[in-house]
Amino acid sequence: MEKCSPIVLFLLVKLLLLQLLIQSSNSQLLPIVDEVLGRHDTQVYIIDVERHEQHELLSDGDLESFHRSFLPNSTLDSGEPRLVYSYRHLLSGFAARLTPGELEVVKSKPGFLYAQRDHHYQLATTYTPKYLGLTTYNAWGSSMMGQGLIIGIIDSGIKPTHPSFKDTNMPPKPPITKWKGNCSYAGFPCNNKIIGAKSFFGGTWPSPEDTDGHGTHVASIAAGNFVNDANILGMAKGDPASGMAPMAHLSIYKVCFPNYGCDGADTYAAIEKAIRDGVDIISMSLGGGKNSPIYEDSVSRGSIAAIQHGIIPVTAAGNYGPDTGTLSHSAPWVLTVGASTTDRRITSIVELGDGRTFLGQSAYQPTKWNSNKKWQLEYPGKDGDVNASCCMPSALANWNLRGKIVICEACIIKDEEKGEAAYLAGAEGMIVLNQPSRGHTTPSPAHVLPASNIDHPAQLEILDYFFKNQSNAFASISFKGTQFGFTPSPTVASFSSRGPSPMNGGIIKPDVLAPGINILGAWPTDVGPNPNPLATHTFYFESGTSMATPHVSGIAALVRSKHLDWTPAEILSAIVTTSNDSWTAAGDLIADDILYKTAGIYATGAGQVNPNKAMDPGLVFGLTLNDYIGYLCGLGYEDWQVMVTLGRKQSCKGVKHLTASELNYPSIAVNLTRSTPSQTVSRTVKNVGDAREGYSAKITEPVGVTIYLSTYKLQFTRLDQELSYNINFSLKGAYPSQGSEIRRGKIVWDSGKHVVTTPIAVRFT
Ligand SMILES: *[C@@H]1O[C@H](CO)[C@@H](O)[C@H](O)[C@H]1NC(C)=O
Ligand SMILES: *[C@@H]1O[C@H](CO)[C@@H](O)[C@H](O)[C@H]1NC(C)=O
Ligand SMILES: *[C@@H]1O[C@H](CO)[C@@H](O)[C@H](O)[C@H]1NC(C)=O
Ligand SMILES: *[C@@H]1O[C@H](CO)[C@@H](O)[C@H](O)[C@H]1NC(C)=O
Ligand SMILES: *[C@@H]1O[C@H](CO)[C@@H](O)[C@H](O)[C@H]1NC(C)=O
Ligand SMILES: *[C@@H]1O[C@H](CO)[C@@H](O)[C@H](O)[C@H]1NC(C)=O
Ligand SMILES: *[C@@H]1O[C@H](CO)[C@@H](O)[C@H](O)[C@H]1NC(C)=O
Repeated sequence: MEKCSPIVLFLLVKLLLLQLLIQSSNSQLLPIVDEVLGRHDTQVYIIDVERHEQHELLSDGDLESFHRSFLPNSTLDSGEPRLVYSYRHLLSGFAARLTPGELEVVKSKPGFLYAQRDHHYQLATTYTPKYLGLTTYNAWGSSMMGQGLIIGIIDSGIKPTHPSFKDTNMPPKPPITKWKGNCSYAGFPCNNKIIGAKSFFGGTWPSPEDTDGHGTHVASIAAGNFVNDANILGMAKGDPASGMAPMAHLSIYKVCFPNYGCDGADTYAAIEKAIRDGVDIISMSLGGGKNSPIYEDSVSRGSIAAIQHGIIPVTAAGNYGPDTGTLSHSAPWVLTVGASTTDRRITSIVELGDGRTFLGQSAYQPTKWNSNKKWQLEYPGKDGDVNASCCMPSALANWNLRGKIVICEACIIKDEEKGEAAYLAGAEGMIVLNQPSRGHTTPSPAHVLPASNIDHPAQLEILDYFFKNQSNAFASISFKGTQFGFTPSPTVASFSSRGPSPMNGGIIKPDVLAPGINILGAWPTDVGPNPNPLATHTFYFESGTSMATPHVSGIAALVRSKHLDWTPAEILSAIVTTSNDSWTAAGDLIADDILYKTAGIYATGAGQVNPNKAMDPGLVFGLTLNDYIGYLCGLGYEDWQVMVTLGRKQSCKGVKHLTASELNYPSIAVNLTRSTPSQTVSRTVKNVGDAREGYSAKITEPVGVTIYLSTYKLQFTRLDQELSYNINFSLKGAYPSQGSEIRRGKIVWDSGKHVVTTPIAVRFT
């Protein structure tokens, strides 16, 4: 009884680095800190109970009394209330502070279903609208940039006075019939851009102001207004910068706190409030819940409640890559987003004493710097001290780095902190080297000294040069500013979590990729060598699937505003079937940023999101709540597990069980085994293109697999017409000797006007 819960992918690369260190040292330090919360011996538990028969009729007060009836009457010494949250929409149950002994009593009460301890986790634009092809002539034009839509952001709050959130040209907030939220924190300056803000912290409601930066950044990517002259230390200038849906409203739900993290109980409460308020999209850049069963993942559970209110849930795949099977939030009703790179670099070049050059990145590019001068290299980690190789401040305290360029490895702490430590130790400059698992994915930090962040293959060469020459090793750093056209791009960021998930039957997740490296977004405080405490216009680079997620949330708002009657499943389908799995006109498949080899389908999903095509997908794959119930039953869930997932009474008896392959999802994953070398699944598509439109199938078979369709032509004669077809997968030739291999293919329905792609994964198990 435990697990789940969210952590914001506080991807200041901080978590990233921490996690890489953890991977490399095989320790068990994962972001879960503080197993025991230190609140005496009580703990917050999330408790599911059978739904009250009169649930719909109960007032909030009555529902609370019902939930209290499960709890002990005694008060807590700390004075904290027992009942932390009483939930209505999202689950049938509550969050409460209990001792393990008291929990046993609760478990013995009639109506008790399930209890899980609330886990506490540590915290995990200018160019991207253009890079994704958005202009006023296409998706932005036809969707009026998301006007009238409301994106709910569940994160670390917001800096409301940042220019990205001014309400210039914004329409007033929607009428009370649609929008029931407000700014309930006294004095918090909401406007027509930010139309709701509330904070959740263990049953208390502190200020929604963002003191971390993550929530502000994410909100600006989804729906930031236009801002002229946005840049980071003069780099990556965008004129103007904006979010993906610049005319959409924002509603802010703060559940993550600096130096604390995010709790599941607060996340449930926030999602519930967002549903009540009437948001259209919920954007959850939350990690955690890696490989948890669906009923223990607050994002998945919250999302199945959300879709029943027509809300589109969008979430992060997680930053646990590059290993496979590292996915968070893999339920089929939530749009799961991985992170990709762009073709932009803020270049900073390292030249070694022997003339070899390496292309790196840094957002801080001082003009008064002698880029021809070669400085002696020093590598504090040369004797094998891991902390010193990572340039931890404590490890550099006794070094005198005057007149030297220091070599640091990308591990444990944020790169900016290494730079500060190096600067204090007197270093002239710094080179930050990627360890193997980060591959080519380099951040472009706002350093305080001349620096260059360099990719992995270069790490080996530069360290080799240092060790061979030692006191005769020299290097210079020179700056080339903001450059575009870097290839290959997009690639899958090294940290982006990969499937398959062992928990979802193999459904292809992440669904899509969106930009998530060095994304310029709004930031609450100034950055760089001379931060101005009064600055109000700061933009900052952040990286993570946290940054990829709000790109798709904004795009979902654009699609929603053009298709108000579509279900969340249909909008998910539109975004998946129009994504692009290749990065060249010749069709080269998207590469992995680790070694620049073709990325697997469980790294890319359907590929890079394509907002213009998603507006007009031609055909959509639909799914209903009953389908999802059949899917849960098909996963082998017992009745109580289905009940906990849904928050209401439900049995698998009499329900048509569906395997993950059979669910009418826009992608298809099937298993072929020695004993089952062929399989047939069916799909149903709905015509949302032209009334009369004919499609023909183009098939890319996975290696060693033959695909037969029951029909190779789909002829539609009216709008909303549905047509079904079967797809038979058969082993071609011998069963692969390797075993446990995943191969990719696709079925493309092409009408000449619309191209509808179904990504395919075949697993030989
Ligand atoms: C709590 O109080 C209620 C009503 O006052 C009583 O019926 C119940 O037995 C009490 N429960 C415990 C565990 O003391
Ligand atoms: C905001 O909404 C809540 C819940 O509906 C309500 O109790 C509160 O009075 C409202 N606050 C303001 C400032 O309107
Ligand atoms: C490395 O740094 C960590 C955190 O500051 C510290 O706990 C640990 O003792 C250090 N290890 C060594 C070998 O100095
Ligand atoms: C650095 O080491 C290499 C390999 O030993 C050697 O060929 C080269 O001359 C050295 N360079 C300097 C500047 O000492
Ligand atoms: C395919 O096999 C994997 C690994 O054994 C399993 O987790 C998954 O549930 C299977 N999927 C289907 C649809 O049978
Ligand atoms: C995918 O993207 C590449 C690079 O932008 C482009 O050349 C290609 O035409 C796109 N493919 C599709 C099917 O849109
Ligand atoms: C798939 O098609 C092949 C060839 O027509 C056939 O032998 C096989 O039985 C079919 N498989 C299923 C599961 O229908």
